[in-house]
Amino acid sequence: MAKLPKAATLLAWYRRHRRRLPWRAEPGETADPYRVWLSEVMLQQTTVKAVLPFFERFLLRFPTPQHLARAPLEEVLKLWAGMGYYARARNLHACVLEILERHGGRFPDNEEKLRALPGIGDYTAAAIASIAFGRKATPIDGNIERVITRLFAVETPLPAAKPEIRAHAEGLTPNRNAGDFAQAMMDLGATICSPKNPACAFCPWNDVCVARARGDMETFPRKIPKASGALRRGVAFVAQRADGAILLRTRPEKGLLGGMTEVPTTEWSANFDFGSAVSSAPAIKAKWQRLPGTVAHTFTHFPLELTVFKTTVPKGTKAPEGLRWSPARDVAGEALPTVMRKVISHAQENSHRNAKSASRRALAGRDTRAGNR
Ligand code: ADE
Repeated sequence: MAKLPKAATLLAWYRRHRRRLPWRAEPGETADPYRVWLSEVMLQQTTVKAVLPFFERFLLRFPTPQHLARAPLEEVLKLWAGMGYYARARNLHACVLEILERHGGRFPDNEEKLRALPGIGDYTAAAIASIAFGRKATPIDGNIERVITRLFAVETPLPAAKPEIRAHAEGLTPNRNAGDFAQAMMDLGATICSPKNPACAFCPWNDVCVARARGDMETFPRKIPKASGALRRGVAFVAQRADGAILLRTRPEKGLLGGMTEVPTTEWSANFDFGSAVSSAPAIKAKWQRLPGTVAHTFTHFPLELTVFKTTVPKGTKAPEGLRWSPARDVAGEALPTVMRKVISHAQENSHRNAKSASRRALAGRDTRAGNR
């Protein structure tokens, strides 16, 4: 009979090869639920590498749940800017307020109560319950799905395969050390059982992996191809005052990039009409210049292509209603999502060579993260 994978084999591997991450307890130490929660929310849609600098900055600024709860949401959004999926930051803030108001400042220690908090779904509840509180729980994310579908050669395509994957993963989860087991699965998926060219020679389960025995590891998980959203287009307006200030506004609380900051834009649509673009320009006296090239950005549900119009106006120009001038030195610290940082950089790059403004220097180096968020 074929050999079956054992949790103990993976745990032994994890003790030797675990990644040292700032939210992880050292062996023998207890994990801090606040750090575990913060890391899990950040890691929901972002890679470990991209999360690390944000995590460090967050902890420096908000060392405890009390510090985070006292901060205005705008400040939380500013520190989150560049990581994408901004509803996470709003939920993070709502969650910490609820922890203080309803749970006496302590995170609940079981999946069910965790799941009732803002921004905590099945995966995050299971991750926190196991990692921070040692509960037997089985978080399953994309990496873990890949490990399990390979290990058992699950032929059902995703998403229909989810219950089958869960049954296998729960069957493997040990009664003790479920938190280490979960993190070991995450590390295995991230470092060895990679989507392309998995490093099977180094895998502690290579002798029990069904896909490895067949040699078709890379074909798992099976997937039904998903249709991607249609390309949307629009125009973004970058107005810069002679002193370097940039004209900005805040997006509505609800919806895509809710509550984040942006330069004024037209609507973004699949059948965008360029002829009507200038009628959406902010109401200031200005000569708009259409810049060459476009700014491309991919959101989860659609790709976007923005044409940038730019103008420079005198220092005394008033901001129209609903808009504000952000002084050059403050622009980098605004809650600007990556797409807007790209737009502003595009406008600055297309400025006259000698007109390098303070805001351009301030923005430089802020937009270096992985991903298209
Ligand atoms: N991805 C999600 N949660 C993680 C964790 N705790 N460690 C490493 N990668 C993760």
